[in-house]
Amino acid sequence: MNAWPTNVRIVEVGPRDGLQNEVAVSTEAKIALVNALADAGLRTIETGSFVSPKWVPQMADSAQVFAGIARKTGVTYSALTPNLQGYQGARAAGADEVAIFGAASEAFSQKNINCSVAESLERFAPVLAAAKADGIRVRGYVSCVVGCPYQGEVAPADVAKVAKALLDMGCYEISLGDTIGVGTPAKVHAMLDAVLAVVPVSQVAVHFHDTYGQALTNIYAALSRGIHVIDSAVAGLGGCPYAAGASGNVATEDVVYLLNGLGIEHGVELNTLAKAGWAIAAALGKAPSSKVGLALKAQCTQNAMPTK
Ligand code: HMG
Ligand code: MG
Repeated sequence: MNAWPTNVRIVEVGPRDGLQNEVAVSTEAKIALVNALADAGLRTIETGSFVSPKWVPQMADSAQVFAGIARKTGVTYSALTPNLQGYQGARAAGADEVAIFGAASEAFSQKNINCSVAESLERFAPVLAAAKADGIRVRGYVSCVVGCPYQGEVAPADVAKVAKALLDMGCYEISLGDTIGVGTPAKVHAMLDAVLAVVPVSQVAVHFHDTYGQALTNIYAALSRGIHVIDSAVAGLGGCPYAAGASGNVATEDVVYLLNGLGIEHGVELNTLAKAGWAIAAALGKAPSSKVGLALKAQCTQNAMPTK
């Protein structure tokens, strides 16, 4: 058992994982979101993805988003890249870091990136080689770590196998994705038992979608194992276009509130973050799905009401 972390790095994935599922968001709203997240203190922001626009048209303007943001020193603006073509697009746009994405489930790999798990690793090899030559860090996602929308159960050993393969290929960090948000702490612990046997805890991140409302408790389980990198999306944005019914990532506001309560450092200013969440939710014409974001908004509205 590893010690609880004293410091957590939050990887904000809202502009990518969140907005890849939203059809009507202007490039300007995306740029404003990324800038607002940096202003709130987030230091790693997944800003877009360089995937086929036929597969995910929502991310087709990622190069414009990268071109429009006001870059802050100390912030890593990263991009999702499925293959060398995507890597080249991300680099041309000025991405500081890239992420490749594999799956622990064969069925999901086919639906999401149109190839087997083994083929996906072959496609990633030239991305890692190019990134190494360019001095660019590569993050590796493993999707469906505790369940698959097509296959159902996923064996922890299958997750560990792909995680280790990505690590051995040169990824500096492995993000374990509960893509459809079905995990509970028991499953998460079993999966982590297998992964942490082959990947150092310092190189593991967790990425929980919140479909069944279990994300925060799963994060608590991951923290108890010493994991200190958490992916989340402001306002709980998003889902996955190839995982029907999956809701967004755990909301960053909710993660920050939890970490504040646990006395774990993270560097994010909650009120500024909540405002970023309200703004993007308003741009989407929805309420934020962050409980903390909603609570702060209600508090703010109440305080702004005239007293009799
Ligand atoms: P494919 O059709 O097998 O690819 O798709 P292809 O190599 O045969 O190329 C077909 C066409 O796509 C060609 O264009 C290529 O140029 C183009 P055409 O000749 O027909 O005009 N193409 C590209 N265009 C732009 N950028 C590229 C690119 N690559 C090929 N990078 C491919 C294979 C991987 C491209 C496709 O399946 C794809 O783009 N999939 C992306 C799916 C996706 O983005 N899913 C959501 C992200 S994953 C996720 O959300 C999970 C995560 O959050 C973790 C978790 O929650 O678990 C990360
Ligand atoms: Mg995701």
